[in-house]
Amino acid sequence: MGLPPPVVLHLEHLDVTFYFSSCWESLKVWSSRMGALSPRVFTLLLAPSVLSFFVPRREGVRSLRASIAGGDEAPKKKKILVLGGDGFCGWPTSLHLSDAGHDVTIVDNLSRRNIDTELGCDSLTPISHPEVRLAAWEELTGKKIGFESIDVAEDYDRLAALIDKERPDAIVHFAEQRAAPYSQKGEKQKRYTVDNNVRGTHNVLTAVVEADCCAHLVHLGTMGVYGYGTSGGEIPEGYIDVVLPGGREAKILHPAYPGSVYHTTKCLDALLFQFYNKNDGLRITDLHQGIVWGTNTKLTAMDDRLLNRFDYDGDYGTVLNRFLMQAALGVPLTVYGTGGQTRAFIHISDTAKCIELAINNPPQVGQPVEIFNQVAETRRVRDIADKISSMSNVPARFLPNPRQEAAENELDVSNRKFRSLGFEPTLLDDALFDEVQLVARKYKDRCIQTKILPASFWNRKRAIECKETTAPVPPPARVPPAVSSSSSSSSSKEPASPAVA
Ligand SMILES: NC(=O)c1ccc[n+]([C@@H]2O[C@H](COP(=O)([O-])OP(=O)(O)OC[C@H]3O[C@@H](n4cnc5c(N)ncnc54)[C@H](O)[C@@H]3O)[C@@H](O)[C@H]2O)c1
Repeated sequence: MGLPPPVVLHLEHLDVTFYFSSCWESLKVWSSRMGALSPRVFTLLLAPSVLSFFVPRREGVRSLRASIAGGDEAPKKKKILVLGGDGFCGWPTSLHLSDAGHDVTIVDNLSRRNIDTELGCDSLTPISHPEVRLAAWEELTGKKIGFESIDVAEDYDRLAALIDKERPDAIVHFAEQRAAPYSQKGEKQKRYTVDNNVRGTHNVLTAVVEADCCAHLVHLGTMGVYGYGTSGGEIPEGYIDVVLPGGREAKILHPAYPGSVYHTTKCLDALLFQFYNKNDGLRITDLHQGIVWGTNTKLTAMDDRLLNRFDYDGDYGTVLNRFLMQAALGVPLTVYGTGGQTRAFIHISDTAKCIELAINNPPQVGQPVEIFNQVAETRRVRDIADKISSMSNVPARFLPNPRQEAAENELDVSNRKFRSLGFEPTLLDDALFDEVQLVARKYKDRCIQTKILPASFWNRKRAIECKETTAPVPPPARVPPAVSSSSSSSSSKEPASPAVA
């Protein structure tokens, strides 16, 4: 007679796990068989249930969940493939997961380093070759991270063989061309971005199905899939409740409203996830991440050989990091348009922690694709420029906007579901700004200043406007700064505009 699987209830804020014998029926069977068992055997059978009543759980699960014991809540050492693990987000995440005791293998084709060569620009920080990075990590920590040089979009057979051989518990998928400006640069870059991103994602999904290995796929998506117009309300985490024609109620993916070829590939990824989840029961988490800022984490700062990359150029440099770098160098902060764009942000250390949270909380088999908004807060670009400008005494310079986008937008984003798992966001903070500026100052001689300016334009009209306008656009009248709320929202009021991407 086997013991019934106990039901585990994780109760918010209580930090205790209650083990209940889940099968009342089984208990009745036990009792009816009691006559056949000696009191000693009966005690042995019941002891685990009694002893495990009110057992404190080490990690204190915060959400109210019920799952069958032996499920996937308790963090355990996992085998993890990190696709794109040589990149800006992938490298610190790989170190974070390895440090947490997981068995990590990076899969990367170093295409990002090759794009540096194509653009004639390099990371501001001198990043070591992957071999040197990995040897340094092992030397410093005794932990080994594997490396496989595979192009996930082109080398399907090698990718499939690796997944089949390793049978990972989780696959973290960062391996995409991730710069919106680069994806708008020209026909070559547009086609490359679609081919690389959509094929890569589809290859991973097919390989998991073929290997029949139950790997949980954690994908890095972007807040940009929702579009950067004013949506008129809070953007939920992935799904919205709607009433379809005929009065039918349904929960559907939030409408996609991409603002570049790059963002479009993330929307296409989301459709592939829906299909493979429905058709093959794949367990998938899609993390809609905000703009990542910062450069090093505690782990990448341990040794110069572990330094993380820092992009500052017009194509890959993201807005906050670019401002911090410009302030450190004493060159004007380049604000596009009115600077009225509101964006979501997250610090690089939080990226790594969020991935770990997602890995530790996989959806159950049969559950729809899990979607979280991986953002800490939202801010208006000109407010950030103002803040950094007043901290550093470096003025802002308003340039014509190379992007086809709403001049001003609101962004009100929910991250409640992610926070309920324990995500405690790092907010924009002066001390962290200083840290990034220190790094920027240390490597300022590596900066090629002409590379900071926009080099890609969304369409012909924008290209002409930007190229013809040599004089800086005057700064707009001041508006109250955007303040983030608990659910991460900007607060300045503007008339709703259609979401323009
Ligand atoms: N950086 C951000 O602000 C940000 C914001 C939101 C979402 N994201 C998402 O996070 C992910 C990682 O972003 P990042 O900033 O680290 O980008 P990154 O360009 O620094 O890193 C991507 C890595 O993937 C590798 N790669 C790309 N295509 C590949 C392929 N076909 N096969 C194997 N390796 C390949 C690159 O060589 C690179 O090392 C991306 O998918 C991006 O869309 C990033």
